[in-house]
Amino acid sequence: MNTKISELLDRVEQFSTNNAAEIEDFRVKMVGKKGKLTALMEEFKGVAPELKREYGQKLNALKQAILAKIEALREAAEASNSNDTKIGDTSRPGSAEQLGSRHPISLVKNEIIEIFGRMGYTVADGPEIEDDHHVFSALNFPPEHPARDMQDTFFIEKQSSEPSEKDILLRTHTSSIQVRTMERQKPPIRVICPGRVFRNEAISYRAHCIFHQIEGLYIDKNVSFADLKQSLLYFAKELFGESTQIRMRPSYFPFTEPSAEVDVSCNLCGGKGCPVCKGTGWLEILGCGMVDPNVLIANNIDPNEYSGFAFGMGVERIAMLKFGVKDLRLYFENDVRFLHQFDSVL
Ligand code: DAH
Repeated sequence: MNTKISELLDRVEQFSTNNAAEIEDFRVKMVGKKGKLTALMEEFKGVAPELKREYGQKLNALKQAILAKIEALREAAEASNSNDTKIGDTSRPGSAEQLGSRHPISLVKNEIIEIFGRMGYTVADGPEIEDDHHVFSALNFPPEHPARDMQDTFFIEKQSSEPSEKDILLRTHTSSIQVRTMERQKPPIRVICPGRVFRNEAISYRAHCIFHQIEGLYIDKNVSFADLKQSLLYFAKELFGESTQIRMRPSYFPFTEPSAEVDVSCNLCGGKGCPVCKGTGWLEILGCGMVDPNVLIANNIDPNEYSGFAFGMGVERIAMLKFGVKDLRLYFENDVRFLHQFDSVL
């Protein structure tokens, strides 16, 4: 055993390389599972008790020598490699960085913001964690409205089982930013409010508990329904193409009166009828209406002096129509194979 130890010590002392693979090979041969030192350690188990102390110390010294050698060789190899790159061929082209890409939802959101920007709208923001006042009460939601129910809204802090303006919740729509804007700013107001919203919904190909909306609000003197219609027609043509038509259907929202839902002519079949528009030739894209006088009053704006319109749309829905994506969940999985398809779209 003595000779084996001193032979190994000699080998360790003489070994030299600055090649990382050779150093690793050396390490495996010495201290790997089937390495020389490991074999000696095994042999050591059978050594007579009176010799254990002596051999134990020798083996330990050998082990330290091997580890120190590996460490020293590794450091030297690293240093010489980094010298290599310093004096390497500086005219070589650099390696290309893998760049990320914009998410399709961001692309569509930015395009919508740009279109309204051309009509003079600026972007307003508000918190995702809101109170009942900004999401419901100031927007003329009656206390018994189903949206105020746990079934539809994620509550963070509820005062009691009865609805209260102080309840804390995740906003269910970006209409809450209308209220925040009216609190901050006197008319004329012309804002577009993009943001995430949250609803207590089962996740499926057409619904998600988190999605994105864009809200618009315009308040000034003499704002009329004709202004609303013309603004939305311009928006639809910019977004879906010059030949796009819109139609308005009467609807109901607590915060607008009158209210309407807006459809655009199907951009896939040109209005003739296809599976995407379910044969109707029309696709629903947003809700809108004239701001209800109750909402103006709740936000200290005189409805005799000012009027306004508001509209709200789901970004995922518009992105699905624009890109022909059939399953909403794809937008949330962030699979790069899906996302990279939009690199050059907008
Ligand atoms: N807040 C509505 C929703 O989440 C969308 C909406 C409809 C917003 C009509 C509006 C509007 O401002 O006028 O379904």
